[in-house]
Amino acid sequence: MAILLHLLFLWVGSLAPAGAVTAPSDVAALAAFKAAISPASITPFSCLASWNFSSDPCRPGPSHFLCGLTCTTTGGGAATATATDRVTAIALDPAGYSGTLTPLLSQLSLLAHLELPNNAFHGPIPTSLPSLQTLILSSNSFSGPIPSSVSKLTSLQILDLSRNPLAGPIPQFWGSMSGLRRLDLSFTRLYGNLPRALPPNLVNLALRGNSLSGTIKRATFAPLRALEVVELAANRLEGKVEGWFFLLPSLQQVDLANNSLSGVEVGPPSEGQQLVAVDLGFNRIEGQLPAALAGFPSLVALTLRHNRLRGTIPSEYAGAKKGVPFRRLFLDGNFLTGTVPAGLLSSGELVGSLGDNCLEGCPSAAALCSPPQKTEAVCKQGYGVDGRTRRPHPYLDR
Ligand SMILES: *[C@@H]1O[C@H](CO)[C@@H](O)[C@H](O)[C@H]1NC(C)=O
Ligand SMILES: *[C@@H]1O[C@H](CO)[C@@H](O)[C@H](O)[C@H]1NC(C)=O
Repeated sequence: MAILLHLLFLWVGSLAPAGAVTAPSDVAALAAFKAAISPASITPFSCLASWNFSSDPCRPGPSHFLCGLTCTTTGGGAATATATDRVTAIALDPAGYSGTLTPLLSQLSLLAHLELPNNAFHGPIPTSLPSLQTLILSSNSFSGPIPSSVSKLTSLQILDLSRNPLAGPIPQFWGSMSGLRRLDLSFTRLYGNLPRALPPNLVNLALRGNSLSGTIKRATFAPLRALEVVELAANRLEGKVEGWFFLLPSLQQVDLANNSLSGVEVGPPSEGQQLVAVDLGFNRIEGQLPAALAGFPSLVALTLRHNRLRGTIPSEYAGAKKGVPFRRLFLDGNFLTGTVPAGLLSSGELVGSLGDNCLEGCPSAAALCSPPQKTEAVCKQGYGVDGRTRRPHPYLDR
């Protein structure tokens, strides 16, 4: 029996590459990574506290390297003696680690994922990582302009530097980053125009809460055939959102709220358009509500609140909407007139507001009609009655 068990162990042992150890250069890089982090910020039960180099990082004992690393075994095959473990991912907990990212990280030549969100890392952003696919450094303390060397990360698919005090103009190198599918630079104090080119295969673009200015240009966005989500809220974008924008073939969600946009043009959708949600609230959009939006069959959420829109609510927004009806409709804070289309008020499914307009037949008892409509005086002033030259208006000319 004992001999049988022994043979069994030998057999299992020859299947698993028990001889593999972490590549010495990877161990050195991990040790340097930990050494560059302030010991005071490594709290007792955090992930990094368990990184004890008396164990092999990829083959640790029961209490060392409890988390943070993913490894892969390379080489060897049947000849286990030559098998080596390599680090492919570092993903740390949000324990408040403070420190810089050692340049020795570049020795981790198979590192594909580096995820360190919600800590206090600062200093240079690592850019000598040829295998890196995911770089998530959101909510840290990285400052200074985004280095142009980020463009050397040619395997990158996800880049999230959001919520860092980066500051600086948004760089122009994105057009060459053809693997990038998600780019999040929200709340990073970027300024200047949107870049001339964006990563051509981008699916998800988030640049919220910066100081980006200028217009939304066709040359920048038209090549982005995979773009599904565009989040540009809370910037200083101006000009018109033109008709081509809503026809981007994969577009699903658009958030352009809190900018200085002055107009929106919408044409009929093309076949297979999947637009689901549009937020254009808190801009300076003039003109009439774009009736053509009701032609987008998947569009269920529309916000145009707090703009300078006039005219009536198109009947297409109610019963005649193509595809699924609106479920969220925020049109409050404009100068809309006329009566509310039958069907909007009686729809039990609809959440939103038509309040703070110049509408008739919007009973304050109806949830959709809160807050109350503007006073007649405010509405008359807004429309410059009697053909007189309109005076500067507290809402329209803000
Ligand atoms: C690392 O582990 C060894 C063996 O378990 C232990 O003696 C040593 O104190 C540990 N080092 C640190 C820094 O915790
Ligand atoms: C837009 O601005 C309003 C008013 O200042 C604010 O309440 C809201 O949170 C902002 N929304 C976004 C998405 O920035």
